Amino acid sequence: MTRVPAALPGQTVRWHVFPDDASLVANALARVMAAARDAVAQHGAFDIVLAGGNTPRKLYRALRNADADWTRWHVWFGDERCAPPDDPARNSRMAREEWIDHVAIPAGNVHAIPAERGAREAAVLYARELRSVDAFDLVLLGLGEDGHTASLFPGHDWGVHRDSPDAIAVFDAPKPPPERVSLSAQRLSNARRVMFLVEGAGKRDAVAAWKRGGAIPAASITPESGVDVLLDAAASRTAQPG
Ligand code: 6PG
Repeated sequence: MTRVPAALPGQTVRWHVFPDDASLVANALARVMAAARDAVAQHGAFDIVLAGGNTPRKLYRALRNADADWTRWHVWFGDERCAPPDDPARNSRMAREEWIDHVAIPAGNVHAIPAERGAREAAVLYARELRSVDAFDLVLLGLGEDGHTASLFPGHDWGVHRDSPDAIAVFDAPKPPPERVSLSAQRLSNARRVMFLVEGAGKRDAVAAWKRGGAIPAASITPESGVDVLLDAAASRTAQPG
């Protein structure tokens, strides 16, 4: 049963447009490191949720050379594709290749979604693991061309209600592979900071719908502090009139 809310709770969005990839990644890196410093100072650890897809690759690669006390970092995933852990489609494999395997984050601090066990079982297991963390310090998210984020897709349950589960089993996702696990909108919203990374002309329509107040999955992420959307010129350009 898909429970799509009649009206999404208000979302505060701060838009940050960058002329090119390098300046966007530099700003995103600075934001991640600032969030980490604040979190470690406040509670001795940094709980970060990673976005999947391709856009975050360069940010993860830049994190390889960051100066950080990696023992304080805990890495979570906003969603995962149901495939073997070493499958190239896995978001966790991309993050490991680009960053995690190059720094000294303790193995026990990398909380991959066990999506290889199938969406239903993995969602239950990950929801159980998520009990060990309250509010995330930073959630990274991407934006799909249809307005999806994590693996919350139009026409599916986004888990926006207070009593929605923390992790959702997703079947027949329109973006392959069809079977996935996603943190719910309510769980992704339980965060001190949320940052979207959006690049490319292909995201233009989704950004425009978002700016118009469209009920897209990305608009269902409503942390108290609002969300920061870092986008490049191509994604932010509105269609030329005429
Ligand atoms: C996934 C991602 C997904 C992604 C967007 C954007 O598992 O596919 O979590 O939500 O962030 O689809 O993907 P790109 O960054 O590749 O455009």
